[in-house]
Amino acid sequence: MEKFKNILKNIADKRSPQELIDEGVNSELKKTLNVFDLIVIGIGAVVGTGIFTIIGSAIIGSSDGLGAGSAVVISMCLAAIASVFSALSYSEIAAMIPVAGSAYTYTYATMGEFMAWMVGWILMLEYAIGNITVASAWTGYFVQLLKGFKHVLPAWVVNYPLWLRNDYRSMYEICNRQGLDPHQMMPFVHLPFGWEIPVAANIPAIFIVLVLTILLIKGIKESTKVATIMVGVNLFIILSFIIVGAFYVQPENWAPFAPNGVEGIFTGAFVIFFAYVGFDAISTAAEETKNPQRDLPIAILGTLVLCTVLYVCAALVLTGIVPLHFIDTQAPLAHAMRFVGIHWYAGLISVGALCALTTVLLIYQLGTTRILFAMSRDSFLPKSLNAIHKKFKTPHVMTWISGLIVIICGLFMDLNISAELCNFGTFTSFIIICIAVLILRKTEPNRERPFKVPFCPWFPIFGIISCLGLMYCKFSAKATSALYFIIWLVVGFLIYVCYSYHEKRRNEK
Ligand code: ALA
Repeated sequence: MEKFKNILKNIADKRSPQELIDEGVNSELKKTLNVFDLIVIGIGAVVGTGIFTIIGSAIIGSSDGLGAGSAVVISMCLAAIASVFSALSYSEIAAMIPVAGSAYTYTYATMGEFMAWMVGWILMLEYAIGNITVASAWTGYFVQLLKGFKHVLPAWVVNYPLWLRNDYRSMYEICNRQGLDPHQMMPFVHLPFGWEIPVAANIPAIFIVLVLTILLIKGIKESTKVATIMVGVNLFIILSFIIVGAFYVQPENWAPFAPNGVEGIFTGAFVIFFAYVGFDAISTAAEETKNPQRDLPIAILGTLVLCTVLYVCAALVLTGIVPLHFIDTQAPLAHAMRFVGIHWYAGLISVGALCALTTVLLIYQLGTTRILFAMSRDSFLPKSLNAIHKKFKTPHVMTWISGLIVIICGLFMDLNISAELCNFGTFTSFIIICIAVLILRKTEPNRERPFKVPFCPWFPIFGIISCLGLMYCKFSAKATSALYFIIWLVVGFLIYVCYSYHEKRRNEK
């Protein structure tokens, strides 16, 4: 009985916000980021696959759900509203406890050890597994770009084998769709007892993840510089799409505005939410920020508002240019420009998309590393993993681990499953953050809050309800990703029970 009480006490054990803040102040990580860097990180993490690719499915729908049509602009606002409540909650806590680790750290201060571990584990879905989606989409645009150079490059470069640019699941799907024999499309390794393993790997995705891993090890300032250039290119591409495209808009294309009614709008909101995933990456860099109390809230809210305005304008132009049933789901913006006959500009958009996706990859890997770093510092993972590089002052072992997770899991997961899992992880972390704000208002009423969520407790409660509502949509459709999400939670629970709980106790002795 005594032992049981002890275990309960341990798993509910919280870290005081002050202790976390002191640790942040004494951290060995360099404090180099300002508000501009943070907005760059935010836009870099948010603008990417969502606006360049997923907008197409949100408009016309997929085998899994109805599309919103031109009313995707309403879906975008719904997704933004759900994000805003969480963004405000993030801002309050990020400014109050400016340390690395994001929702993970905040949970530790409010809900105790076990919940903190689970949130860290769930955040891996958002960052590491979400990165698999982005890396796969990166390959898609890379291949598009190569095709644009088909008159310059040799054919074997432009049309290199499919099994060197797809994971094996996608290869099977391609074969199924086109009625092809997988044995003719990719090599197989033959094992005893008639077993065989298909050989397929997304080489461009692996390559870009490796390059970014090395860049991150060299240091966050260098990485942010690269991100700044990429974000600039990226914003230019979207803005110019809006301006150039506006001249080709035909208002009759906006009718019918919502072909699938309210259901289409809500399904669209669920899908397009992916375009908003990522702004919380800003708070994961809190420990490396010069003036977190002032800069974090400005950066988080600024990023969200800017992105929503861009998305809504881009969606209006896209649906105004191309009739609904002609909208493309692979590269909708580039296709729209081709649709109105500006081919060179379609190529330019592909370059922009590559920049955007590269930035998202960079920021997500940064996020994964920082969360692993915080979990290791708290003794859930071996301490040796959080070694700081002597010369570059970055957590190099963790950075390699984050890169390898994406590369290895990317061999086995396809793009859609990883995207939906990423959404589940994000919703859950949003909900936890809103709950954390409510708890901290009760447990730490007098702590200084440079930024406060207005209309508390209503805004955090609206955040919780809107995220739960969107998750419920997917659960009620009995989606495969919902099942995978539950499996992910069970695996996280088992790792905690079998390893992390004991590792932590060992370190306490
Ligand atoms: N919001 C990020 C993107 O759209 C995940 O790529």
